[in-house]
Amino acid sequence: MSEQAIGVFDSGLGGLTAVKELIKVLPQENIVYFGDTARVPYGTRSRETIKKYARQDTDFLLSKGVKMIIAACGTVSSNASELTNTLPVPYTGVIVPTVAAAVNATRNGKIGVIGTSATVNSNAYKNEILNRNNRIQVYQQDCPLFVSLVENNFISPEDEIVKLVVERYLSEMKQAGIDTLILGCTHFPIIAKAVSNYLGRNVALIDSGRETALYAAHILGENHLLNHTNTIGSCRYYVSDTVESFRNTAEIFLGKSVDGEVSHISIEQVALS
Ligand code: DGL
Repeated sequence: MSEQAIGVFDSGLGGLTAVKELIKVLPQENIVYFGDTARVPYGTRSRETIKKYARQDTDFLLSKGVKMIIAACGTVSSNASELTNTLPVPYTGVIVPTVAAAVNATRNGKIGVIGTSATVNSNAYKNEILNRNNRIQVYQQDCPLFVSLVENNFISPEDEIVKLVVERYLSEMKQAGIDTLILGCTHFPIIAKAVSNYLGRNVALIDSGRETALYAAHILGENHLLNHTNTIGSCRYYVSDTVESFRNTAEIFLGKSVDGEVSHISIEQVALS
């Protein structure tokens, strides 16, 4: 049982930032990753569509016999929370662990949240923060251009375009004096340095992938599902667009070259079967 893989999915390849963290926290675990590269982005879509896609993505992972499912995607986690109750294996999105870390980190009670438009419009992060502590002031901003910047490899903190977009999106939060910022999208850890340079070192950046990897370890432990073998786990990747497009972009998110088999699947056909 414990050697079964952990299933991780995302709208595309951004979720590999969470896989990178998962490998650090649980190096012995096997991972099956599904990136819905043919239908990315999810962040501009309606809640109904996001829920439908999330269901298809999780059905695919279940067909691979995974022992747990992680939605690495901020947009799915914010808009399809009912997955928590409907899956036959333990499940987590990024909201609960990320908010727990942010509420723990803030000293002045001012937390910023950035994500896709669908994430920010759902208020999922904000509601979870206020559930834990209703005296916290929450400042939200959708940052769709951050996704495009990262996907087009505009990631250097010295790049003038990156600096400009960071300032445009975050100036209000900076003025408001947040001391904690939730990076509520898979792509944002890649430009964390630029964000930190702008907001200053006193603002704690909370990486949803990192917090979710730590939380997943906790859930697996609780459910006696940890893999206790001494060997390094393997990663198996599936994408709904071409394998070539995966290889080109995956390295940005994974921080290293991809080792592990990559296959194309037709997610619509999986949904029909
Ligand atoms: N993976 C998405 C997220 O974390 C970003 C890309 C998209 O819009 O699908 O919200």
